[in-house]
Amino acid sequence: MKSIYLDNAATSFPKPPAVAEKMVEYITHIGSNVNRGSYESAYEAEETVFETRTLLKELFNGPDEKNVIFTSGITLSLNMVLKGLLKKGDHAIVCPLPHNAVMRPLRQLEKDGVEVSMAELSDSADEGEPKEVVGSSENGVFFKPSSLEKLIRNNTKAIVMTHGSNVSGKVFPITEVGELCRKHGLFFIVDSAQTAGVCEIDMKRDHIDALCFTGHKGLMGPQGIGGFILSDPIVSEISPLISGGTGSISHLEDVPDFLPDRFEPGTPNLPGIFGLWAGLTFIKETGIAVIREKEERLARLFTSQLETVGGLKVIGHEENYPYTGVVSVVIKDHDPAEVSAKLESEYCIKTRVGLHCSPSAHKALGTYPLGTVRFSFGFFNTEEDVICAAEALKEILQD
Ligand code: ALA
Repeated sequence: MKSIYLDNAATSFPKPPAVAEKMVEYITHIGSNVNRGSYESAYEAEETVFETRTLLKELFNGPDEKNVIFTSGITLSLNMVLKGLLKKGDHAIVCPLPHNAVMRPLRQLEKDGVEVSMAELSDSADEGEPKEVVGSSENGVFFKPSSLEKLIRNNTKAIVMTHGSNVSGKVFPITEVGELCRKHGLFFIVDSAQTAGVCEIDMKRDHIDALCFTGHKGLMGPQGIGGFILSDPIVSEISPLISGGTGSISHLEDVPDFLPDRFEPGTPNLPGIFGLWAGLTFIKETGIAVIREKEERLARLFTSQLETVGGLKVIGHEENYPYTGVVSVVIKDHDPAEVSAKLESEYCIKTRVGLHCSPSAHKALGTYPLGTVRFSFGFFNTEEDVICAAEALKEILQD
């Protein structure tokens, strides 16, 4: 039986073949560190690292290559940005359906005197407001970006937004929230784990001050590489969380005050950066609009297959809202864990079940504590994969 991988929200698979080829090229033929050796292979490695910064700067319309910081992934990026920025007495506002990569650093910071407010949901959408349907909680189902204004205090420093939900696939209105941050002089921090490489993100248009990204999902690179891109105004506000050798100003024991070295101590993940270069090159050649259209089309095909089936409920999807390739489902009278296990053992279909590291998202969507079975379609999935998954679900429902 053909194996069908539908867990692209966890990590995208397969990767474009050039990703592995580029990593092998580094390991086999280059192998040198960067910013340290003055020999040809070190320069070659440095060239690809710089090109990768350029690809990221261009993809997200960031300010400059030096503002692109590499990390091991978006969890470290969010920790470095949130813990470097927010100090005792500061206040941060969190937009709906956050992931624990946002919430856990913030909950730790709360213990150190940082104040955190969660965006409020309301039970109606006003005329003229962006009508952002979130899910169903006791507080309501609509997220109105303008409602964030009520939460702003004298000490509010930042709004933190998970751009696309890893539970429902909903894509939130980054431009409106960015505009609101600009209006109120707040820093705008974006978790793009589910949207980088899939949705258009423009740091300048969207007034983003810290765009945190991971390399191994929509950017189609390997695991272990990610980063963040900073706007110029936020740079001096962030204290480096980690420090060490950078190969620059080695006569000093102080952390460099220039980018990217200020936030990039230690030897970088060079095979990872080479792989990411290939993923980004694939995205540039393919076109982000083409990727977006395909993933959303597969997700909508899947939901359309399920909508007439009694007993199946797609969570947090509405006809007229933007989505990624993520679809979460609950099945009446079935434990999601059993459904996911059956999909794998009887149909070779790989899904992710449970709370997806996003308990507050599941609470807002009304699917806490059991969670959902999550299907996440990627660029290399086919319509046939979608139909197989829908048919398998229907068969399980009839069992
Ligand atoms: N946050 C990732 C997911 O949703 C790992 O699966």
